[in-house]
Amino acid sequence: MDRVALITGVSKGLGKSLALEFKKHGFKICGVSRTKPDINIDLYLQADLTQKEDINRVYNRFFENFSRIDILINNAGIGIYESWKDIKEEDLRKVYELNFFSYVFLTQKFLDNLIKTKGTIINVSSVAGKLYVPYMGAYCSSKYALNAFSDSLRAELKPYGVHVLNLIVGRINTGFSTRALGSLKPPSTPFSQSPENFAKAVYKAYKKRKREITFPFWYKFFIFFGNLFPNLYDSLALKSWEKSKKS
Ligand SMILES: NC(=O)c1ccc[n+]([C@@H]2O[C@H](COP(=O)([O-])OP(=O)(O)OC[C@H]3O[C@@H](n4cnc5c(N)ncnc54)[C@H](OP(=O)(O)O)[C@@H]3O)[C@@H](O)[C@H]2O)c1
Repeated sequence: MDRVALITGVSKGLGKSLALEFKKHGFKICGVSRTKPDINIDLYLQADLTQKEDINRVYNRFFENFSRIDILINNAGIGIYESWKDIKEEDLRKVYELNFFSYVFLTQKFLDNLIKTKGTIINVSSVAGKLYVPYMGAYCSSKYALNAFSDSLRAELKPYGVHVLNLIVGRINTGFSTRALGSLKPPSTPFSQSPENFAKAVYKAYKKRKREITFPFWYKFFIFFGNLFPNLYDSLALKSWEKSKKS
């Protein structure tokens, strides 16, 4: 029987690489985004996931084409670079609608079906959900909220045999920051990773039924030391923003 994965944010970046990786391992792929991906998948559904009616339509169209769901990958997300002083309410709401509420509502919609297959929910979170970054507070807080969602959901779904894998992702080369909201330009990060290596690591973690992975792994030390020495971390983080403003 064909196993089926639903992946959001499939048109580019991490979602596109995840689609190719899970397809390589024999999954049928249903991808969702507002623009069409340039890869060959089994079903593409155009949708704005911040709209409840689009989520309902995705659900109906999905089950017109497939009889089961084995994996739901909540991946579509957006960044924002702005101070708390200047952030616009409209932008803050947009970030939460996509980065948090769409993950919750899409999961709720497919949950009974995931329980039937004892499936897996994979949530794409961020290092920014474990260690705050100044001028990225809105994005960070949406990912902190997502981590709490993943962890509490995992516990609640244990009796049903549904697994939750939470991904703590560091900087990856997708152009994500160029599509972010807000008026600021983030400091550059020297060590960005490839989306293909990320997708391979996710598949491995899925197979091993990991609760959470940090990719690349060395961000674990960065998170640990940042939280251990918050005053030093604040100064260094602010300095890197100062530099990026001058350049
Ligand atoms: N790249 C990084 O360095 C990095 C680091 C940490 C965490 N992450 C997380 O990884 C996830 C994916 O990031 P990425 O780098 O792949 O970003 P990306 O290249 O900008 O891709 C974002 C995807 O989300 C889709 N999307 C955006 N708004 C949408 C909406 N309203 N409805 C449906 N789909 C929507 C986009 O497609 P359309 O525009 O066609 O709708 C696109 O396919 C995000 O959750 C992000 O927070 C990324």
